[in-house]
Amino acid sequence: MAVVWYPGHMHKAQKQIKEVMPQVDLVIEVMDARIPFSSENPVVKSMRGPRPCIKVLNKSDLADPAVTAEWLRYFSQQGGVKAIALTTTRKGEARKILGLCREMVSLRAQRGEPIRTMIMGIPNVGKSTLINALAGRAIAKVGDEPAVTKQQQRITLGNGIVLSDTPGILWPRMQDENSGYRLAVTGAIKNAAITFEDIAIFAGEFLLRHYPEPLMARYKLSELPTSAMALLEAIGHKRGCLRPGAVVDLHKVSEILLKELRAGKLGGVSLETPAIFEVIASDSDL
Ligand code: G4P
Repeated sequence: MAVVWYPGHMHKAQKQIKEVMPQVDLVIEVMDARIPFSSENPVVKSMRGPRPCIKVLNKSDLADPAVTAEWLRYFSQQGGVKAIALTTTRKGEARKILGLCREMVSLRAQRGEPIRTMIMGIPNVGKSTLINALAGRAIAKVGDEPAVTKQQQRITLGNGIVLSDTPGILWPRMQDENSGYRLAVTGAIKNAAITFEDIAIFAGEFLLRHYPEPLMARYKLSELPTSAMALLEAIGHKRGCLRPGAVVDLHKVSEILLKELRAGKLGGVSLETPAIFEVIASDSDL
């Protein structure tokens, strides 16, 4: 289910996380490796205060490995932060986090005190999948509830680490229109305010500029189309998405492009690099 965030939801989510925070030693913030900027919520920093944070670049199987390496370097320069790229859906990967937890809260680990952790992040980044993978059983429901809705329970993960069974669910970065598009391209927001065709055109423009070769290979194109619309037309002809009169069915082609991109059929594609912070900073200077 898609979540629409209103100020009331945001306030409630923030309040509930603040209530739990005093019983948390370490925050595990889950982001989508393809869009670390747009899937990061800047309020996490103020909510966690001095607590250390592991930033998980999840769904790294769908991201461009070279760009993910740039993001790991970028986040690891931040104080109290360690970053790790994961594919939580791959068996055994999630537990790589546990060693990091002990390293980051070493004093409690040395004293034999439990390290209390909590997973946070925007909807659809893989928080529930991560909780279930760490717990080794299905605890968290895979779905989008815009707030922490029930009494938190603690799951013992072994190695002295405990985890809240309910993730802190935060809203995505919404003030920037392009972030909205990038979130929609990955499927993080299924927002009726942006049409499927608009999302596909945004994706097409990005792919033409940054990933022309995988695009040509996937759709067997002999030359690179000069615009996103021309790209959709070309894919439509290749895949037979035609209406009577040989008119390309744009909705159908958009669906194909987005479905295949989200499933990783074009290889690892990252929509944001750390340089995005420079772009945002220069825009706000204007
Ligand atoms: P959330 O709690 O943060 O909202 O996310 P959740 O675990 O529900 O995961 C959202 C979707 O992302 C799920 O797919 C899940 O299988 C997928 N996912 C989680 N981790 C990874 C990963 O490392 N790689 C890939 N490729 N996918 C991952 P879904 O149930 O099919 O939902 P949807 O994609 O149709 O929305």
